[in-house]
Amino acid sequence: MRTPLIAANWKMNPAPIEDQNSTSLFTSTIVDTVVFPTALDIHTTVQAGLATGGQHGRAEVTGAYTGEVSMQQLKAAGCTYVLCGHSERRKYHNETDAEVATQVTAAVAIELIPVVCIGETLQQREGNQMESVLRTQLASLPNNTQIIIAYEPVWAIGTGVSASPEQAEAAHVFIRSILPADTAETTRILYGGSVKSSNAQSLLEQPNIDGALIGGASLIPEEFATIVQIAEGLTK
Ligand code: PGA
Repeated sequence: MRTPLIAANWKMNPAPIEDQNSTSLFTSTIVDTVVFPTALDIHTTVQAGLATGGQHGRAEVTGAYTGEVSMQQLKAAGCTYVLCGHSERRKYHNETDAEVATQVTAAVAIELIPVVCIGETLQQREGNQMESVLRTQLASLPNNTQIIIAYEPVWAIGTGVSASPEQAEAAHVFIRSILPADTAETTRILYGGSVKSSNAQSLLEQPNIDGALIGGASLIPEEFATIVQIAEGLTK
């Protein structure tokens, strides 16, 4: 019912597509895939035929916002997705839940699919605050069928320490339980945080994990392709 989405977050790294062969490793005819390159590489990935998203977009259409790119500009460049509220944006750019909600609303209005990142820090998890943190991060979002959620526990991002399949599934079940009733079952909830080919099967086979947002491992095309194949295998 929910088509898996396997997403590559290349962050501030060069796009790892050198030729036709490596480019094709980021595609699938069975599951959905998308790459999130730097703004400078969006043109390249769109030209290469890859479903592409912006790593961040500002809600205002144009204006005096040095260093920023607008949702409109992402759309015009050929993006179909946009990341909103990645924990690195929240950390290094102090993005608040209210700002993230504004971005999501702007993305939805022009039919860019927002992938909204939420997740707790280690301190919050150890302080038994995971549920309240997730609830707060979700509270201000508009209710829209286009929105995709990415559960990314901050302690699992770039650390090599993934959430266990049980931990991730429990968080996804909780997230689904607090989504608006009319969209909860159809909303795709991705897991992100140290996903690699060696742990993808056990994560993706969880009933409420509908795909993955992959950072480090997505910089190796063969590694990403293996995760795509695992997702394809699970849909049959
Ligand atoms: P990671 O990053 O796979 O390197 O942990 C995930 C992310 O930040 O989206």
